[in-house]
Amino acid sequence: MLEISHLTKVFHPGTVNEKVALNDVNLHVGAGEVVCIIGSNGSGKSTLFNMISGTYPVTGGTIVLDGKDVTSSAEYRRAFTIGRIFQDPTKGTAGKMSIEDNLITASRKGMRGLRISLNDRKRAEFRALLEPIGLQDRLGDNVGLLSGGQRQALTLLMTVISNPKLILLDEHTAALDPGNADTVMALTQKYISQYNLTALMVTHNMQLAIDYGTRLIMMDSGRIILDVQGDEKRRLTVGSLVEVFRSIKSRDYASDRGLLTI
Ligand SMILES: Nc1ncnc2c1ncn2[C@@H]1O[C@H](COP(=O)(O)OP(=O)(O)OP(=O)(O)O)[C@@H](O)[C@H]1O
Ligand SMILES: [Mg+2]
Repeated sequence: MLEISHLTKVFHPGTVNEKVALNDVNLHVGAGEVVCIIGSNGSGKSTLFNMISGTYPVTGGTIVLDGKDVTSSAEYRRAFTIGRIFQDPTKGTAGKMSIEDNLITASRKGMRGLRISLNDRKRAEFRALLEPIGLQDRLGDNVGLLSGGQRQALTLLMTVISNPKLILLDEHTAALDPGNADTVMALTQKYISQYNLTALMVTHNMQLAIDYGTRLIMMDSGRIILDVQGDEKRRLTVGSLVEVFRSIKSRDYASDRGLLTI
């Protein structure tokens, strides 16, 4: 479904600000996998998403999506296959437009530009889609009136009805209170199975990364340093994850020191 090979991203190459944000990343994700991504600030998680969605050009390596090499294809083209949700609930929706207008925009994207008009049948369909998030009676309301949790739930709904194959969730519950974060996570799981999606989800919440998904990867300094799934993932605890991180870091440090003393 997604094959990332030898992906490298260097920002400001050849200057004093040179930053290797991704360093030879290899990641193959099969259809239906739900991959949780953890890693400290600046480890390259969002840059990985920016590369997959085509926000910035890669420095090296390739990205194959659904059998097609998309490494150089434009962001708007990839957006037909990829849905992306950010931490900020205001990013995925148009605040000055009504809920129904936002939904019609998302469905048009999903129908690859086919004409869809807002008739009574479409409204009934939207009402049914909005029922699980409790917004079925607010079709005409401006999205700007919604709470952060409601807005992120709507963003999620708009993303899935736009018919993507892969969704990229970048800390999409981090700005919500615990209750709303749980609701949006439950909705995320429901949509992933209902719409047969493959998902990559960045989170700073280790427990969440342990509880959700089929696979967990940890990033550090632009590399994938841990990749577990199946029983190995089910056996993880927050304590064991922290321990793995510490031991990998100290091994790195030891080898760096080793190199320096040669
Ligand atoms: N557009 C950019 N221009 C220059 N440097 C960038 C750019 N985007 C990211 N970086 C740098 O690349 C590194 C990785 O950043 P990235 O945003 O991918 O980290 P992250 O893992 O998402 O961190 P966080 O958990 O804080 O969101 C950082 O050092 C960051 O400063
Ligand atoms: Mg980030």
